[in-house]
Amino acid sequence: MKIKTADFVISNTDIKKCPKPNKPEYAFIGRSNVGKSSLINMLTNRTKLAKISGKPGKTQLINHFIINEKWYLVDLPGYGYAKVSKKARNLWAGFIKDYIVKRENLMNLFVLIDSRIKPQKNDSEFMEQLGVNGIPFVIVFTKADKLSDKQLNDNIFAYKKHLEETWETMPEYFISSAINKKGQEDILNFIENTNQLF
Ligand code: GTP
Ligand code: MG
Repeated sequence: MKIKTADFVISNTDIKKCPKPNKPEYAFIGRSNVGKSSLINMLTNRTKLAKISGKPGKTQLINHFIINEKWYLVDLPGYGYAKVSKKARNLWAGFIKDYIVKRENLMNLFVLIDSRIKPQKNDSEFMEQLGVNGIPFVIVFTKADKLSDKQLNDNIFAYKKHLEETWETMPEYFISSAINKKGQEDILNFIENTNQLF
């Protein structure tokens, strides 16, 4: 799919103020600094559409971007590094939960996982909540450029093993890099196919 236009629409903490839910929508979530905003820029071939920072906690609001005037990408705040489980639960109780559970045009949530790190409890707990609430999601392993192919394969294999403790089948996943655009085509194809279901 070709990205012709990508424009910022609105930022807020209130689902009632989000754009009318009359177009398919895809949101990005994961720990602070995992690369959510960078992935949105990579997918759209923009450098400054979503704001990026080396410091965790850059994105604080629900940010809507409209793509090709036909579908939305949504950048969400991350969950924290410290006291992870507690923060993840807090996140699940706040406006982000409201957004995830109530947003009727949300076709899929991309749950981002840093491909370099070992499975973390807050990510697993978060995905469990998605399962309980019947929210469709796929995983994106980010920052693949920082690993060798072997390290990457080993880490993803370890992650699969970890998830198989909870999930009967491993959720669908993509591998991405904002640096070399790995994953761009696959993720855009996934979105294009899912758009048909709207
Ligand atoms: P919050 O908004 O704070 O939750 O963070 P975020 O998940 O939106 O992360 P962001 O896109 O701001 O990126 C965080 C840092 O990781 C920045 O310094 C990015 O340049 C870097 N980064 C993101 N994606 C990649 C990637 O694929 N490869 C490499 N090498 N660095 C990346
Ligand atoms: Mg961000």
